[in-house]
Amino acid sequence: MTDNLSPIDTAKFVAARRACDYVASGMRVGLGTGSTAAWLVKSLGEMVREEGLKITGVPTSARTADLARAAGIEVVSLEEARWLDVTIDGADEFDPEMNLIKGGGGALLMEKIVATASDQMVVIADTTKEVAALGAFPLPVEVIPFGWQTTRGLIQETLSGLDVMGDRVVQRMAGDAPFVTDQGNFILDLHLGRIGNARQLALILNQIPGVVENGLFIDICDVVIIGHSDGRAEVRDINSGTVEESLVPMGEAANIFRDMAD
Ligand code: 5RP
Repeated sequence: MTDNLSPIDTAKFVAARRACDYVASGMRVGLGTGSTAAWLVKSLGEMVREEGLKITGVPTSARTADLARAAGIEVVSLEEARWLDVTIDGADEFDPEMNLIKGGGGALLMEKIVATASDQMVVIADTTKEVAALGAFPLPVEVIPFGWQTTRGLIQETLSGLDVMGDRVVQRMAGDAPFVTDQGNFILDLHLGRIGNARQLALILNQIPGVVENGLFIDICDVVIIGHSDGRAEVRDINSGTVEESLVPMGEAANIFRDMAD
């Protein structure tokens, strides 16, 4: 059934499917954004429809809200839910301390708010997301459109005094127009190469006027689930210090693969 899936998509599916074990009836669940999180939403939707799972989902983007509703998951706002049992989301990079770069899909602001309003954040990823040090993936920073060039200049100036390899700051585009987030803001992608002190950088960036939030998630993630294309899912829990591996039965995925093809 997975014949049509690339190895990377199979790995994303495996991580997402394993993450469903962190969800039980009655829970309020933060739903991440991106291609890996889409597998999670599809999988949870299938459990709602086929197995009677009862959850409410708080999406981290308009895209995920649409996907969740289409999958049959009851969607509520964070204002309604107030606090969540778990948030499950993808990442662009994670390091050995389980600090993350997020925002490749432009949803970092809602993703950070939702994740920090949760008892637990579970990150789902394929093996390509694991890094020794954060920074090869350009760090997304959400900025207010008003005076964004000034904000970009201030960011660039700030970077020159910090332990980073590069300092190129590029406005994210969507075709010929600036990329605009769900909150109506712009994204600046910081091409840093390597971040020496991610904790310090995260704090300093948020002091710059015009910066709304940055894509560094420090001490927010509790569990990383790494999916492999052969069906293995590795679960690393930072709180218990445990690492577990299990095999995700791919046969159960038939309905989801059929849905994805629709
Ligand atoms: C969106 C994100 C995503 O979680 C991140 O970009 C990973 O996406 P994908 O699962 O498609 O690789 O932060 O803002």
